[in-house]
Amino acid sequence: MEKTLEGKKILLGITGSISAYKSIEFLRELQKRGADVYAAVTPHGLKFVPELVLKTLSGHEVYKEVVPENSPEIRHTTLGSIVDLFIIAPATANTIAKIVCGIADNPVTATALVTGKGIICPAMNVNMYNNPATLKNIEILKERGYLIVDSEEGELACGVKGKGRLADIEKIVQVVEFYFIPDFLKGKKVLITAGPTREYIDPVRFISNPSSGKMGYALAEMAVAAGADVILVSGKTYLKSPYGLNFVEVETVEEMRKAVFDNLDGTDIFISAAAVGDFTPVRVADEKIKKTEEGIVLKLKRTPDIVSEVVASGKAKTVLGFAAETENLIENARKKLSKKKLDFIVANNVKNGIFGSDNTSCIVIGKNLEKELSGTKREVALSILKAVSGTKV
Ligand code: C5P
Repeated sequence: MEKTLEGKKILLGITGSISAYKSIEFLRELQKRGADVYAAVTPHGLKFVPELVLKTLSGHEVYKEVVPENSPEIRHTTLGSIVDLFIIAPATANTIAKIVCGIADNPVTATALVTGKGIICPAMNVNMYNNPATLKNIEILKERGYLIVDSEEGELACGVKGKGRLADIEKIVQVVEFYFIPDFLKGKKVLITAGPTREYIDPVRFISNPSSGKMGYALAEMAVAAGADVILVSGKTYLKSPYGLNFVEVETVEEMRKAVFDNLDGTDIFISAAAVGDFTPVRVADEKIKKTEEGIVLKLKRTPDIVSEVVASGKAKTVLGFAAETENLIENARKKLSKKKLDFIVANNVKNGIFGSDNTSCIVIGKNLEKELSGTKREVALSILKAVSGTKV
């Protein structure tokens, strides 16, 4: 597991929603990523999550009373200020309303009044959620600078369907990871292609390549984390669409080209991370090609070069391409950079096969830039984005 939260102290506020049981899994996920997690819990929250579980797992005393007996510590002022992040998951309608009003009657609301910022993950019954008071309160907290990971639609513990479920733990973890990444792409539009393309021979067979899409998806995730408006145009992969972006799935080069040009206007950074097929059959058979003893000859023609067409259109301010090479890495990549008139190119040595791996090493090359990067694809993605946006790496 990538230690994306190494060295971070996180205070997890737990309130009295049935979904509080998920906060234990959430705490573990944060710890797996290297975070040191403390727990603050409301009296109702304690009915759902036993203190012993929180204390044992977090390795810290649980903050369960604003005024603890026999303790000189004023934890609502100390704990809130020593942690890097205060996150309330789940946050009930009641707790949200109290925070809006500045009430500080339990460890969670008292910490909120002291810190005044953090992440809030509402979870409640659908009618409580849809009550104008709650909707307004959530809006107020957003305006005050809290990051809201909104409830999701689905089956609720009370048996009804509707909005009010705690967001997926996986999603909340991602929001926490992204919380610590600076917003250096705020207001920027980033369009990214990723994954392999498929060129059909007949209705059931196609030519493709082993691209996993991981690098393009990592770039998309990190661009979202850095505050960009992101569109990810992806060939078929086994990856889940990342949260917080517009996702367009395509199969063929022609579909990818169309999706790119449909979304290109006003793009600040175009990143062509897709492994776009270079050839497509001249003719696609209407019916499944019959197996014959003598075999078949397939005639292929070139596909359009999407990234070159994007450069020629002048619609993207900065264009970054990829060069997968097996020899003379830098020389070949530099040739590609100038031939395709790209602003930047990321050169990968694919001799030993990097497809599908979670780690990568590459060289990002620009007119006045040549920088070696290595690490997890997410780490490298963040460095690439910083390099192409002119942010200090
Ligand atoms: O020419 P080559 O395929 O090596 O160039 C790689 C770069 O060009 C990558 O950024 C890839 O996404 C892009 N490309 C493209 N359209 C193609 C082939 C490659 O956009 N038909």
